[in-house]
Amino acid sequence: MYTNEMLESMKKVEAARSANAVLEPRRMTAEEKETLLATYHPDYKQGEFAVLQIGANKGEKVPTELAELLQANSRVNPAEIDLSKVDYDVDVLVIGGGGAGASAAIEADNNGASAMIVTKLRIGDANTMMAEGGIQAADKENDSPAIHYLDAFGGGHFAAKPELLFKLVNEAPEAIQWLNDLGVEFDKDENGTMITTHGGGTSRKRMHAAKDYSGAEIMRTLRDEVLNRQIPVVDFTAAIELILDENGKAAGAVLMNMETHEILIARAKTVIIATGGAGRLHYQGFPTSNHYGATADGLVLGYRAGAKLLYADTLQYHPTGAAYPEQIFGALVTEKVRSLGAKLINVNGEAFMHPLETRDVSAASIIRECSDRGNGVHTPDGIGVWLDTPMIELKNGEGTIEKRIPAMMRMFGKYGIDIRKEPILVYPTLHYQNGGLDITADGMTNIENLYVAGEAVGGIHGRNRLMGNSLLDIIVFGRNAGKNASSKSKDVTLGALTLEHVNKFAKEQAEAGIKTDVVSPKLLPNYARRK
Ligand code: FUM
Repeated sequence: MYTNEMLESMKKVEAARSANAVLEPRRMTAEEKETLLATYHPDYKQGEFAVLQIGANKGEKVPTELAELLQANSRVNPAEIDLSKVDYDVDVLVIGGGGAGASAAIEADNNGASAMIVTKLRIGDANTMMAEGGIQAADKENDSPAIHYLDAFGGGHFAAKPELLFKLVNEAPEAIQWLNDLGVEFDKDENGTMITTHGGGTSRKRMHAAKDYSGAEIMRTLRDEVLNRQIPVVDFTAAIELILDENGKAAGAVLMNMETHEILIARAKTVIIATGGAGRLHYQGFPTSNHYGATADGLVLGYRAGAKLLYADTLQYHPTGAAYPEQIFGALVTEKVRSLGAKLINVNGEAFMHPLETRDVSAASIIRECSDRGNGVHTPDGIGVWLDTPMIELKNGEGTIEKRIPAMMRMFGKYGIDIRKEPILVYPTLHYQNGGLDITADGMTNIENLYVAGEAVGGIHGRNRLMGNSLLDIIVFGRNAGKNASSKSKDVTLGALTLEHVNKFAKEQAEAGIKTDVVSPKLLPNYARRK
């Protein structure tokens, strides 16, 4: 039930709707954006970060919650682990069953390697499945990978690793083709041409989508391909520590059955970390649009083994998480809603920003509206601004919402809100880990034979990511890691397996005076009510 305050504000939104639909608030200048971000974006709140005291990124700041996990105790005591009893022996071990892991396993299999996926939940239980709006690729006549590069490089504050971003944009058209050939049902017009739209910060319409459940459609297809190829998938089994060989090269992982806690050993010539993001760490108390398993496990595994992180201090808060009703607090309201014409409106019915600024700028702008400017709409449990969804049909005609964003319509419809007729309330939600493990263009970390793909990678997008470049990176870098790890595995002769790096890390911890009861990787969030 809406409160009186919400209903009063909604009347103002309705009254101003026709004018707001034609009014286009100007884009902010670079200086305005810088000031806005520095004042309101959560990445700039210095008190929310801690400086790492040990490991490859010693001296650098990361979110406090992540620092706690990166510097925590291992789940294993190396003295108690029998590395001579090998349960799985493969060429390529893929840790993680989302889009990046599945793409990697498919390409490794294609390349003649024995690949195995291990996942703490089930294949497909991942952020890929939650992705809605689409996947970018410059495959239209008025577009090019170079223009895509410029959009993404600028949107990421010129911080992306050039060789990674170059790969991302250049291999994007082929990635779309690959997915289409595998069976992804992209939106197409009556001539079979793919329909593309804008996203925040794009100068061309290059967002390919499967309605507003693009990630679920892509994951469905990749999962089918993995299963059809009979690639082994060990589910409900988490990787809890990497195994190196005596020469310091990646050589497998210690696994733990999530139910029985049985320990298993996977030996592998190459290892790919594809464990996804960190939304379930709820940095700074934010809700999240992420899957239940997004607890930064890959960053912890890699870091303890000596891998370097890049930009682990930068997160993406998606501007439009659901702010009401409480049952869907933090759930993703796809940017496609704004691409189709819905604008962000404050409590007074005013369109306060251009709807397709980049995400960091949009999120900071909403936070400013709801804090210092006092223009937020109070809900029984929080605050938000309106996203005026009925504008979509004013602009594109009746039936557009049902056709193009049916999942949004259903999500709000369950709570009696008809987004064709009423606006919805939104507030930023923790959505994406911009930083992660540092890789070279072949997907490898500074640890030989340890590869990373997907959201666990840092540096592809710089310090902010544009919509649709994440579904793209899981495909491009998942396939890349699968191809390179499988080729590399053909030349690998493994030395004796060891967990000595775990002892070494514990020694560093003791020398730095770190005393903690926390064990990591976290694996699952803990939502038990505190007494
Ligand atoms: O808004 C969205 O649909 C999210 C897309 C993305 O993070 O790429």
